[in-house]
Amino acid sequence: MKTYLIDIIAGARPNFMKIGPILKAWPKGGRIRYRLVHTGQHYDQAMSGNFFRQLGIPKPDVNLEVGSGSQAGQTAEIMKRYEALLAKKPADLCLVVGDVNSTMACAIVAKKAGLKVAHVEAGLRSGDWRMPEEVNRVVTDSLSDLCFTTSALASRTLLQEGKKRSQIHFVGNTMVDSLLAHRKQFRPPVIWQEAGLTKGKYLVLTLHRPSNVDRKEKLEEWLRTIVRHSRAYPVIFPVHPRTAKTLKLIRVDSLSHCPLPTANCQQKGSGPILTTPPLGYLEFNYLVEHAKAVITDSGGITEEATVMGVPCLTLRDTTERPETVTMGTNELVGTDPEKLGPALGRLFEGRWKQGKIPARWDGKAGGRIVKILGLRT
Ligand code: UD1
Repeated sequence: MKTYLIDIIAGARPNFMKIGPILKAWPKGGRIRYRLVHTGQHYDQAMSGNFFRQLGIPKPDVNLEVGSGSQAGQTAEIMKRYEALLAKKPADLCLVVGDVNSTMACAIVAKKAGLKVAHVEAGLRSGDWRMPEEVNRVVTDSLSDLCFTTSALASRTLLQEGKKRSQIHFVGNTMVDSLLAHRKQFRPPVIWQEAGLTKGKYLVLTLHRPSNVDRKEKLEEWLRTIVRHSRAYPVIFPVHPRTAKTLKLIRVDSLSHCPLPTANCQQKGSGPILTTPPLGYLEFNYLVEHAKAVITDSGGITEEATVMGVPCLTLRDTTERPETVTMGTNELVGTDPEKLGPALGRLFEGRWKQGKIPARWDGKAGGRIVKILGLRT
């Protein structure tokens, strides 16, 4: 009996919580097997290894160890190495998730090598072509034979772009599967004790988009604005490696005066912005779950905040996940720091909207995908 081999591709931090639930739902034995391919786009323990461990994802069968590079350099390296792997050990289908460079690079290689391509989180569009992720999404979807979507809107987008109805499956959100499956295990990070944090009395900040963090002046402007409007709530800032490079050029403690002294602020003597290295999955989501709000330029975090009912202020002009705004707790503040003050004002005055959870964000997406792949009846 010939086995059918599915390559499951993961490369960067936001991929790991999306593949975990698919692997968990995979039945043991059977004719359809998977090979877990890590491209090595993210490679630090804090960005990769810790997530595999905490989410109970098996060790990758192959690690292409591509590492960092320019947009083209990294994409090309992934393509060369994945092509070589397929030449040596072919597969039948390539399943990619999300919108990172590894997603698009492997989809292109697989399609040219004659494999079928399946895309999890298909059909998302921000309309912002300055973001490498938008290019990755559109290219990946255009090549995909099977499109798994997180919303009815994403399915409609794919239909409008010419996909056949039979290729599109609205399965829900595997990132939410991971969140719900691990929620009981969330635990406070070390900084919880160190900073003497109290539930509901601090903000979480994440920034990693090149447009927000690659220029010192822009990053500094954001941080100053946040300090000015945070009403002395501590702002916990787990720093992405890309952001860390620019942050080195800024004296964070010089920003951290206490505009409105509170017990919390005086106690620490340092002030509101408290940086930490990137956190594990369980620790980061504990912080978000209990925060007053999260300020971010991530896409995935807007979904997690929506599910946990935590106010979310997004420092971007567009989103590929509009249901986090129309239904959830997320609001697009934009990229003009002037807009952040009024938004935080509404938050502190208790005028933030209550969200609802979008359809099929119910923890069962991985199971639906596995069923459609023909693994379960
Ligand atoms: C990538 C994704 C982005 C995703 C983000 C999540 C693309 C185009 N971007 O952006 O969509 O939201 O991951 O984190 O695929 N670095 C380390 N250690 C690591 C990985 C990276 O120090 O383990 C440093 C490197 O110096 C690298 C920089 O971080 O140059 C950026 O990494 P890269 O993978 O190029 O892009 P991200 O900004 O992480």
